[in-house]
Amino acid sequence: MAKYRVLMTDCIFPDQDIEQKILAGIDAELVLAGSPTTEGYLEKGSDWDAVINTYAPVKADFINQLTKCKLIVRTGIGINTIDIPAASAKKIAVANVPDYCMDEVADHTMGLFLNAVRKISFLDKRVRAGVWNVNEANPMPRLSGKVFALYGFGNIAQRVAKRAAAFEMTVIALDPFVSDEVFTKLGVKRAASLDELLAQADFLSLHVPLMEETKHCINLTTIKKMKSSAVIINTSRGPLINEDDLLVALQQNLLAGAALAITFILQPRLTSNWLLVLAAAKKEAARPTASARALKRANLSL
Ligand SMILES: NC(=O)c1ccc[n+]([C@@H]2O[C@H](COP(=O)([O-])OP(=O)(O)OC[C@H]3O[C@@H](n4cnc5c(N)ncnc54)[C@H](O)[C@@H]3O)[C@@H](O)[C@H]2O)c1
Repeated sequence: MAKYRVLMTDCIFPDQDIEQKILAGIDAELVLAGSPTTEGYLEKGSDWDAVINTYAPVKADFINQLTKCKLIVRTGIGINTIDIPAASAKKIAVANVPDYCMDEVADHTMGLFLNAVRKISFLDKRVRAGVWNVNEANPMPRLSGKVFALYGFGNIAQRVAKRAAAFEMTVIALDPFVSDEVFTKLGVKRAASLDELLAQADFLSLHVPLMEETKHCINLTTIKKMKSSAVIINTSRGPLINEDDLLVALQQNLLAGAALAITFILQPRLTSNWLLVLAAAKKEAARPTASARALKRANLSL
């Protein structure tokens, strides 16, 4: 029997070979949960020494039952899947992998952005339906000279800034925790407030972490502070946007479009009229999470 037992709550990769190999080096056994739920995590015991987590929720009802756990690690950026107060109360450290897929998410942000603004998927669908009419994609604004706004200016947003600047857009960002030196080095203007960022944005890309204070930061009230020609891109976390409000805004032409990579909330609605309405309005580019899929597994550090 191994010295340590490590639970993996969920895994998006085809196997756990890398994790198993690393953990074997310290005589730790890796066990994949039977299902990504509290019941699944507890199927093979509660005496886990550490927990590895990706997208599945790690809730207080599970954490409270852990008898000896010292560490919960997310195999990605952000810790919003984990109940931090519950972990803190049990003196369990929580960690993440802050350099996971930064370039890939930045690339994906630009990919979704270009697709939404240049209406590539929309026109592709129309051509496949036998309609050859570029005017259906109007309006299609010129990118150069437009304002590309970043909400949050951390690792990924800084990479997006470089890419947006290459399209000759003016890049502005809101992040009170990033120094003036970083803004100056990347030639990015600092927005003084969220209101200023919203008002100036031709395109708004979300890169803040999901926390109580940022949940539903994009809602009908904040959207009404934006230009009706603006497009929102979200490759951070789905609940940053109140998606019911976003739908209303798109239907009422308060926004020109939305490109959503993170659609955990939307997924159950794929059979609803949500996407049909948006597709009909030529305004939407919802995608399953793929931003991180170019990850080289060999580079994943635990
Ligand atoms: N789509 C994906 O596959 C994927 C992959 C990795 C990360 N992400 C998401 O992207 C987010 C950003 O990742 P990152 O690597 O750039 O993280 P980061 O920690 O480097 O950057 C986040 C930035 O947000 C800023 N911030 C926090 N609260 C703020 C607020 N209220 N107002 C303004 N700025 C605020 C922080 O100061 C920080 O600079 C992650 O939290 C995660 O949710 C998505």
